[in-house]
Amino acid sequence: MKILLTGGAGYIGSHTCVEIVQAGHDAVIADDLSNSKPAVLERLKELTGKDIPFYQIDVADKEKVDEMFAKEHFDAVIHFAGYKAVGESVTKPLMYYRNNIDTALTLLEVMEKYDVNNFVFSSSATVYGVPETVPLVEGMKTGCTNPYGWTKLMIEQILTDASAANKNLSVVLLRYFNPIGAHPSGRIGEDPNGIPNNLLPYITQVAIGKLPQLGVFGNDYPTHDGTGVRDYIHVVDLAKGHVKAIEYADEHKGTEVFNLGTGTGYSVLDIVNAFEKANDLKIPYVIKPRRSGDVAEMYADPKKAKEVLNWVAEKNLVDMCQDSWRWQSNNPKGYDE
Ligand code: WQD
Repeated sequence: MKILLTGGAGYIGSHTCVEIVQAGHDAVIADDLSNSKPAVLERLKELTGKDIPFYQIDVADKEKVDEMFAKEHFDAVIHFAGYKAVGESVTKPLMYYRNNIDTALTLLEVMEKYDVNNFVFSSSATVYGVPETVPLVEGMKTGCTNPYGWTKLMIEQILTDASAANKNLSVVLLRYFNPIGAHPSGRIGEDPNGIPNNLLPYITQVAIGKLPQLGVFGNDYPTHDGTGVRDYIHVVDLAKGHVKAIEYADEHKGTEVFNLGTGTGYSVLDIVNAFEKANDLKIPYVIKPRRSGDVAEMYADPKKAKEVLNWVAEKNLVDMCQDSWRWQSNNPKGYDE
C-alpha cells in the first residue's frame, strides 16, 4: 500500500514510518514541521534505505492537500498531525479545536474526492477521562478533562459517523497509552520543544544534565507507592500496531477502536528506579504537589488488539529505559546537532 503519514516527522509518526517501510509498504510524509525537525527525514533515509517523499504542508490547507493527493494516489492515510500539549490546550482551546478538527475534516473530504478509503487515527487513552475502574476496555465510558482530549474524542466521533455514511470507508481508531523509548538505533526519538511535559523526556534531560532534578507530581495517590501509575509502551511496539491497523483497515469496513498498551501499570517511582538500574545512572528527584488534571492510575486492557489485530507489545521496561537513554545520550540536543 502507499500510505500517507500526516505528522510523519514527529515522534510516533517517524517510528511508524520505519515500520511501514520495513513491512513492505510505501510511505509519504506530510508535515508542517511545527513540532519536528527536517533532520528526521535524513535519519529515516538512513534507517529505511529509502528517500521518503516529503510535503512540508499544513494538513488543514485543502488546496495543498488536494494537490498532493492528485499526485500521489494513496491507498491509505495514517493521521498523526495535530497539537498535543494538554496544558496549552486549556489556555488556547480554540486553536486546538480549529487545528485538530480542521485537519481531520480536510483529510476526510479530500480522501472522499480521490476515493481513498483506509484511515487510521492517532487517538489517545485520554478519551477515557477519569477512569472508574482499570484496566480500561474499549467499550468503557469516554469523556475528557481538557480540550486536547476532546479534540481526540470529537475526531473519533467524526470518523465513526463518516464511515457509517460511506460504506467504502474503513476507520481504525488507536488509543495510545504512554509511548516512550526510541528506535534501538538511537537515530530517531522524541525531541520536545522547550521543557518537557512528559515523564520520560524529563528524566532523560535530567540524566544528561540539562535539567537539575525531576519533580514527582504527588506521592499521595491510592497506588502502591503513592505516585501516579501509567501504561508505558515502547514507541516501536506502538509503531508496529499501526502496520497491523492499516492492514486490518484494508480488509474490513466500518470503524473499530483499539487500545495500544501493554496492560501493565508502572508508577513514577517504578520508572525512575527502572531507568536508574537499566542505565546505571542516578536521577535526583523531589516530591511536588499533584499536577492538576492528573489521574491516579491508567492502564489498558490490550486483549482486543491481540485477538483482532494479532498485535501485542513485545518490549519491556528495560528496553524502554535503555532506548530512551541511547537516543538522548547520542543526541544531547535532539535533532539540532
Ligand atoms: C506520566 C506520569 C505524571 C512529568 C499525557 C497526556 C496524554 C498523552 C500522553 C499525548 C504522571 C508524572 C510527569 C513530570 C511527573 N498525550 N510526571 N513529573 O499525563 O499520563 O499523559 O501525555 O500526546 O494525553 O495526558 O503522561 O508523561 O505527562 O505523566 O511526576 O515532570 O508522570 O504526574 O503520573 P500523562 P506524562
